[in-house]
Amino acid sequence: MKKIGFFGAGKMAEGILSAIPSKRGVFMAEKVASRRAELRGKYGVKTTADAKEVAKASRLVFLAVRPQDVDGLAAEVKPFLTAEHTIVSIVAGKTLAKLRKAFGPKARLVRVMPNLALRAGAGMCAITAPASTPAEDVAAVEKILGGAGETVILKEKEFDAVTALSGSGPAYFAYMEEAMVEGGVALGLAPKTARLLAEQTMYGTAKFLRESGMELRPFIEGVCTKGGTTAAGMEKLDVPLFKETVRAALKAAADRSRDLA
Ligand SMILES: NC(=O)c1ccc[n+]([C@@H]2O[C@H](COP(=O)([O-])OP(=O)(O)OC[C@H]3O[C@@H](n4cnc5c(N)ncnc54)[C@H](OP(=O)(O)O)[C@@H]3O)[C@@H](O)[C@H]2O)c1
Repeated sequence: MKKIGFFGAGKMAEGILSAIPSKRGVFMAEKVASRRAELRGKYGVKTTADAKEVAKASRLVFLAVRPQDVDGLAAEVKPFLTAEHTIVSIVAGKTLAKLRKAFGPKARLVRVMPNLALRAGAGMCAITAPASTPAEDVAAVEKILGGAGETVILKEKEFDAVTALSGSGPAYFAYMEEAMVEGGVALGLAPKTARLLAEQTMYGTAKFLRESGMELRPFIEGVCTKGGTTAAGMEKLDVPLFKETVRAALKAAADRSRDLA
């Protein structure tokens, strides 16, 4: 296994780090001193403020800085990159072509679109790589990220849709939860109780659907007993506007992802 490093050690980097079984050899470059101390204390990783040090010492490096910081960082580390390096970018909107331009011709590239649930070990990561990246590198990335949730290998042209659905999705589900909580409170529940009820219901429904593999339509119809309470609720929710709004939200996010690329 190649020595693992990180450029940037923020929220998403920590999510990936927590999935790596042996953290002792991991080397993280992070600008913020207090964050470096925190990660050293929590995981026993090696840290530095200088990304060049990570480029020199590590061979499989996760790129986990914000999009606007990529070019500056790439210019710094590029002279130290070799054909043995694999840069695994989780940066939203940075295409493989842009990464290639930024990091130069030598390093192997892998692009990942994760989501925030990575931080709870239940992430959804889409992975893509150019033909020039060896399959064993892609497999190594798949294995690491598989420790923090589900992974799927896709074509890069699918990444705007992935960004819209699973990348941005946690905010959409949380928004739905917020609406459910507000609805519960309006019916007289305490906010804390309403949140527990809404959240556990969302979590349990997703768990059941994943574990059973049941089709969505029969599941919905099965819960909606004729003349029952769920059917009364669904009558209000199951209007064309609801799905049109969700579709429009995903399209807007995918369009923005394309614009950012
Ligand atoms: N959050 C999500 O849900 C999500 C989902 C999919 C993809 N992503 C992608 O994941 C990436 C990381 O997101 P995040 O939320 O983890 O960001 P974050 O918490 O802001 O972490 C990025 C860290 O990198 C540091 N940094 C910047 N330039 C550096 C350099 N040259 N050397 C060392 N450290 C440097 C930053 O320090 P400073 O603050 O001092 O600049 C910051 O602490 C982003 O590109 C984002 O597009 C995020």
